[in-house]
Amino acid sequence: MKIMVVGGGGREHAIIKKLKENPTVTEIFALPGNGGIARDAVCVNIGATDTEGIVNFAAENGIDYAVVAPDDPLVLGCVDELQKKGIPCFGPEKKAAIIEGSKVFSKNLMKKYGIPTAAYEVFDNAENALEYLKTAPIPTVIKADGLALGKGVIIANTTEEAEDAVRSIMEDKKFGKSGDSIVIEEFLTGPEVSVLSFTDGKTVVPMVSSMDHKRAGDDDTGLNTGGMGTVAPNPYYTEEVAEECMNKIFLPTVNAMNKEGRTFKGCLYFGLMLTEDGPKVIEYNCRFGDPETQVVLPLLESDLLTVMQSVTNGTLGNTEVKFSKKSACCVVMASEGYPVSYKKGFEISIPEVLQNQVYVAGAELKDGKLLTSGGRVLGATAVDDTLEKAVSAAYKAVENIRFDNAYYRRDIGKRALNAVKEAN
Ligand code: AMP
Ligand code: GLY
Repeated sequence: MKIMVVGGGGREHAIIKKLKENPTVTEIFALPGNGGIARDAVCVNIGATDTEGIVNFAAENGIDYAVVAPDDPLVLGCVDELQKKGIPCFGPEKKAAIIEGSKVFSKNLMKKYGIPTAAYEVFDNAENALEYLKTAPIPTVIKADGLALGKGVIIANTTEEAEDAVRSIMEDKKFGKSGDSIVIEEFLTGPEVSVLSFTDGKTVVPMVSSMDHKRAGDDDTGLNTGGMGTVAPNPYYTEEVAEECMNKIFLPTVNAMNKEGRTFKGCLYFGLMLTEDGPKVIEYNCRFGDPETQVVLPLLESDLLTVMQSVTNGTLGNTEVKFSKKSACCVVMASEGYPVSYKKGFEISIPEVLQNQVYVAGAELKDGKLLTSGGRVLGATAVDDTLEKAVSAAYKAVENIRFDNAYYRRDIGKRALNAVKEAN
């Protein structure tokens, strides 16, 4: 089987490594991939949002199965175009990807179907939003409607901050058309949990839960990033919470999408907050999370390609999806200065014994050398019997990976380990 994976980050590297375990897979192409992915797949210099280029490549190269991983090609309708050429795909169609592509859509969906989420108001002009803020409770959360490279959510601790956020999104168009509408919502508190799930529109199979670490600095300080590390499972996500989420959030969401004529097939990601009033949805993503995938897929014991194909074929209900009872930790090594500005072009050295547990995100190959080329450079994952062992093994790997200007958080897993201790 010839497989094509659209995307080029650590998440795609983790997907590719897992797909390679299937003996029927003969070739994997990554569009565009990256310098580290090049060890595991043939990288083709076609960008993830070049839908026409992707479709032509797939048709010309006899691709048997395609996985579209990032949000932007999904929201643009890459899966729809591949399907028109008869290429089976993993990933939602455009009309279902809107669950991530428009926060106004997803909030209205939750309201209509009684799915627990933060209370909110929608605005399509700055004047009304600013008027509303005069009496809105503080802190408040401002969200640009559309995709904004993970930067479209602003938690405002004062009314002035909230007003600045509204002006920068709606008047200065900081995120372009993504800010034509905004959501202003209630600020929630509680532990956050990421739950990725497989769904074929009929059955929902949640994967092992995980915990992201979004802020750049230790103890959750500093700017928001794409994610500086993850652990799985998330100790706050007990069996009781899982059952409540299945009944009140996961199944109702999949059913709601069906009722709207927007059947979702692929990986539906639930970003949850466990509040005092129960679990609530913070966000939906129409795809695997990054760096959640780097801890979730290493714990998948079933064959990933088989599971993905069952999602495509609508036979997920008859397919075994088994996860290991072990724990995993991924520590992201970034370029110092990320997410603002950073130097790149430094040579990366990864010991051969660690290659199978490293997922490369921002690196390119030049004259046979692997050089840093992005903010998040790579993630080192370790799987072990306990979370404590997994965390320490991931950090041991990090100590043996070198590049100039490397930066990483020292406390990935700390909060989760404290929660495990409290529970015992
Ligand atoms: P997102 O870009 O949607 O993942 O949001 C980024 C982060 O903002 C989330 O991981 C939460 O930590 C935080 N956040 C989003 N919405 C809320 C909310 N209503 N209350 C509190 N925190 C929130
Ligand atoms: N790690 C959060 C996301 O993938 O959106």
